[in-house]
Amino acid sequence: MRAIITGHSAGLGAALSAALLERDFRVLGLSRRSCEPLRTRFGNHLHEWHLDLADPEAIGNLLSGPDWQTFCATDETILLINNAGVLQPIDPVGQQGAERIARAVAVNVTAPLVLTDAFEASTRRSPDRRVMHISSGAARTAYAGWSIYCATKAALDHHARATREDGREGLRIASVAPGVIDTGMQDQIRAVETDRFPSVERFRRLKSDGHLQTPEASAARLVGYLLGEGYGSEAVMDIRDLG
Ligand SMILES: NC(=O)c1ccc[n+]([C@@H]2O[C@H](COP(=O)([O-])OP(=O)(O)OC[C@H]3O[C@@H](n4cnc5c(N)ncnc54)[C@H](OP(=O)(O)O)[C@@H]3O)[C@@H](O)[C@H]2O)c1
Repeated sequence: MRAIITGHSAGLGAALSAALLERDFRVLGLSRRSCEPLRTRFGNHLHEWHLDLADPEAIGNLLSGPDWQTFCATDETILLINNAGVLQPIDPVGQQGAERIARAVAVNVTAPLVLTDAFEASTRRSPDRRVMHISSGAARTAYAGWSIYCATKAALDHHARATREDGREGLRIASVAPGVIDTGMQDQIRAVETDRFPSVERFRRLKSDGHLQTPEASAARLVGYLLGEGYGSEAVMDIRDLG
């Protein structure tokens, strides 16, 4: 069993990688940095490829090279988790800037769409292929200051819906909101000034009241759902709705 996980170096992606490695998956992790704790614990069951997902040439090099093709050439279950994401620019419209918008769209939308397309084409030997986009409640609720993040996550939701309509053999896909998780991304959110992100107090309270999920608990729920029989029956869901 194999899994390709973007953003495996930290936060939710590191916890998702650990949860799958513990279940004897081989993991191909795609991030700019290494994840030393995972390397130490799981040795060569973790294969890391360092790239900036905002760089289409770097993605092209991965997809045209032997590592990707070899990893995808399996007749076992294979997963793609599009987990890497960026929040910036956190700013109201008019203050976001072309470069920061383009970077967010590249990491949050272009990379997952390109990887999903290549994954479908490269994994046809496997009868059980599953893609999970890590979406956000922000795809479905609008927040002032987060228009770029909200729009990019909503794009993943609709990509999952439409890809499901393609009906490719053995391919299941869903876009899943993971809940609010205690990672570096939440540190970033709480550090923003109120005039740039008016809901910041709510996120500060979630932390101070102990309402953030640990990455490990979130990863366990997401992996349980991803590997379950019913996976892909709904293209868009929120893990919190499972109760
Ligand atoms: N935390 C939450 O409460 C929450 C809530 C809803 C949804 N989410 C979603 O969950 C996912 C994971 O978030 P997180 O909280 O774990 O974030 P995080 O702690 O900031 O980690 C982000 C991961 O993405 C990778 N990444 C970011 N930019 C990249 C780039 N240009 N190229 C390659 N890799 C890149 C980072 O790796 P490198 O820096 O090594 O490249 C890191 O491994 C994101 O999609 C986020 O939108 C999080």
